[in-house]
Amino acid sequence: MPLVSMRQLLDEAAKGGYGVGAFNVNDMEQIQAIMGAAQETNSPVIIQASRGARAFAQDRYLFHLILAASELYPDIPIAMHQDHGNSFETCKSAIELGYTSVMMDGSLKEDGKTPSSFEENVAVTKQVVDYAHERGVTVEGEIGVLGGVEDGHGAGGSGLEHITDPDQAVEFAERTGVDALAIAIGTSHGAYKFTKRPDGSVLKMDVLIAIHKRLPSTHLVMHGSSSVPKDLQDIVNEYGGKLKETWGVPVEEIQLGIRNGVRKVNVDTDNRLAITGAIRKVLWTQPEKFDPRDYMKPAREAMQKVVSQRMTQFGQAGHAHDYSPISIETIAKGYKDGSLATRPLVAAK
Ligand code: 13P
Repeated sequence: MPLVSMRQLLDEAAKGGYGVGAFNVNDMEQIQAIMGAAQETNSPVIIQASRGARAFAQDRYLFHLILAASELYPDIPIAMHQDHGNSFETCKSAIELGYTSVMMDGSLKEDGKTPSSFEENVAVTKQVVDYAHERGVTVEGEIGVLGGVEDGHGAGGSGLEHITDPDQAVEFAERTGVDALAIAIGTSHGAYKFTKRPDGSVLKMDVLIAIHKRLPSTHLVMHGSSSVPKDLQDIVNEYGGKLKETWGVPVEEIQLGIRNGVRKVNVDTDNRLAITGAIRKVLWTQPEKFDPRDYMKPAREAMQKVVSQRMTQFGQAGHAHDYSPISIETIAKGYKDGSLATRPLVAAK
């Protein structure tokens, strides 16, 4: 099956009332782990690559690995997404490569660190939407600023400094025509999100619910959604790692989000932890090993286990065969003739 439009995946998820995990990749084993999990659970998937991942793996290697996945698993709908594009040029280059979806993170300036103004964010996101939609490519925008840093991208801080304002979210969605909207509700990228199990003072699910009420048909995106489970932390630390005690986003909170308009759930850190734990275990317990397959195989298995679990928890499991993919050309026509609405439905306050 060719790579499919993320818009189609998210529209179908909205119809079915479930969320779709968007898992970050840098290499072949991670792609294999995701596809193994998708097949095991019969799930549609979003595979995403940050700018850092594209630089690490090189564009052509990474893109062709994902094409290989679509050839090997012709029954699984796969959307290929640019995570945190920092400029029009980054998004354009992903679209030229063949990505079916891009995130224009205009919440930060092009340096990927400094928060931008609302007007700057609207302008660059709209520019990407115009270019992408003409080519049938989905666009995710971001309003509010996440905490933490991922692959060198991020404002840092706790995630509470730039919580999304629901009125701004409405204006942003109306003026840009984005297909999906990432919002800041206190989460941050990376392992160190919360210093204790998060409650409403640090994880603002009420803000998410308020935004969903105003924008009932906009696909919301939760970034920084790793749960950072204690068992994965423990494995890393048992075999020589030095992770400090930390908490992520509980799966029940993500499920609450999914009941309130969240359709895309970004997960990277949990997979990194699973891989690192598995590799550490082999190298620590069997120091005589030196064939990379001896540790990459368990690492891949450990990641597949996490991804399968998340696919089931987010509700996408069982939905790979609900629909036939629409070609990107047909999607482009839909944006042009207005059948794929780009102006969001806005509910009264
Ligand atoms: P985590 O660091 O919580 O996995 O978040 C990943 C993410 O949001 C990628 O954009």
